[in-house]
Amino acid sequence: MKRTVVLYQSKYGATEKYAKWLAEELGGDLIKTKNARIDQVETYDVIILGGGIYATGIRGISFLKKHYPRIKNKTLVVFAVGASPYTEKGMAELRGRNFKRELAEVPCFYCRGAWNEAKMTWLDRTLCQLLKKAVAKKDPATYEPWEAALMEAAGECDWTSREALNPVVEFVRKLR
Ligand SMILES: Cc1cc2nc3c(=O)[nH]c(=O)nc-3n(C[C@H](O)[C@H](O)[C@H](O)COP(=O)(O)O)c2cc1C
Repeated sequence: MKRTVVLYQSKYGATEKYAKWLAEELGGDLIKTKNARIDQVETYDVIILGGGIYATGIRGISFLKKHYPRIKNKTLVVFAVGASPYTEKGMAELRGRNFKRELAEVPCFYCRGAWNEAKMTWLDRTLCQLLKKAVAKKDPATYEPWEAALMEAAGECDWTSREALNPVVEFVRKLR
């Protein structure tokens, strides 16, 4: 039986929810990426890292980059949690931005998170409102899928679902 750890970094709770479901499902341990020590993490066979997406970056992914030489022979898996609907184009852009060089072959799954402007910090809420204002100037017929979702979210939306993790669970179970 391979030992599995789920590392996660979550600002508003969506990634944390997914990480807990995943650890439960796979019988793995759960560690916040910020508290993770490499000497502890390298004792696992399967290292899963989950992070919320902020301005196209996956939070916490630098842990894998920084420690790659010590974990390169482990099975590494990433899941990213964002508000945008899944599209192949969006996924390709996410990979291009976050999986350079040594991480190029690391599998990445996408789970849709949540959006609640009332819970955001002032800065995050302001950034989102600026973004919405810019998008509102465009013709809705030309919206990218993430732009349409942003305009429809109307301040609050929760897309989290346990089923969204099925592809990750199946992928890891096949390794065992
Ligand atoms: C300032 C800001 C920037 C964001 N940027 C993106 C983004 O680039 N792509 C995306 O899909 N979602 C983006 N989101 C939405 C978050 O990824 C989403 O709310 C997710 O559920 C956050 O996960 P967490 O609660 O675990 O941090 C952004 C949210 C905020 C507040």
